[in-house]
Amino acid sequence: MSTPIPSGREATESAQDSSGAGGPARPRVCIVGASGKLGRYLVQHALGRGFGVVAVCREVSVEKLEEFSGRITVIPGATDDRQVIERAVAGCDAVLTVLVPRGVHHYSSGTAQAVLDLARPGARLVFSCGYHISRDGRDVYSWKVKALVNVAGRIARLFRLVDLDDQVEACRRIFASDTRWTVVRGSDLEEGEPQGLPVWSHHVGDPILKSNLTRRVDFARFMVEAIENDDLVHETPAIVGCHTPSALAHAANGTPAFAMKPSPM
Ligand SMILES: NC(=O)c1ccc[n+]([C@@H]2O[C@H](COP(=O)([O-])OP(=O)(O)OC[C@H]3O[C@@H](n4cnc5c(N)ncnc54)[C@H](OP(=O)(O)O)[C@@H]3O)[C@@H](O)[C@H]2O)c1
Repeated sequence: MSTPIPSGREATESAQDSSGAGGPARPRVCIVGASGKLGRYLVQHALGRGFGVVAVCREVSVEKLEEFSGRITVIPGATDDRQVIERAVAGCDAVLTVLVPRGVHHYSSGTAQAVLDLARPGARLVFSCGYHISRDGRDVYSWKVKALVNVAGRIARLFRLVDLDDQVEACRRIFASDTRWTVVRGSDLEEGEPQGLPVWSHHVGDPILKSNLTRRVDFARFMVEAIENDDLVHETPAIVGCHTPSALAHAANGTPAFAMKPSPM
């Protein structure tokens, strides 16, 4: 079953499949976990770039996508349900996945595995997570972050709310896959007007990331722009807001930062 959004899925789909009579098909992007705060920004940016959007979210959350009614296709269901993902990613050129370590039933790793297995070969896969994920063990964490992950993580798991280890497992599977993945590691997040594309670095602990703050709307933009940036394939960029003190200090030093060139609209 798809789309309880009463906006005419067929019309939406045919509008998404081509850019007009005889025009080339528009890139089609699946957004897994589209109803959350980050997910809705992802939808906004993807639509803004002219992508066709297929959104997956839990049945209870479909109404959170009401603002996009008529412009996207919604497939309700658990994001770790392989049948749901199979239907959603069919024909998609890219998949953006919000990895959430919710519950203690391997939701994150199940979601990642379904996307890795079922997205079409060659599709661009972009996943979100936090600074706590380390690919090569060369990230350097402050005692505060370590304490937060250890203590808060254990408490959350005890109450069966959040399982950070499962997000770690999800990323381990992504890193081991030969798909065209990028794992974007978000700093602490805040709401607010967009400031521009975040800058990034390879390792947490690099001075440019010290401010540890990014606007959620800009995090989403980075993920959407990563779709068309092959330099980020098999990278785990740790991002920070481009207007934060650490990013500005870095720019003032003249030290080159990893900044994505915004792709032309
Ligand atoms: N929050 C931060 O400070 C922070 C920092 C760094 C990185 N990140 C990363 O950013 C991404 C988005 O995080 P966010 O904090 O901004 O959250 P968010 O975008 O609001 O997303 C929360 C997600 O969790 C889902 N969810 C909520 N309750 C659930 C449940 N019981 N079972 C299954 N799914 C449930 C939501 O789906 P529904 O809409 O269906 O409820 C939504 O997709 C994540 O990958 C996170 O690791 C976050």
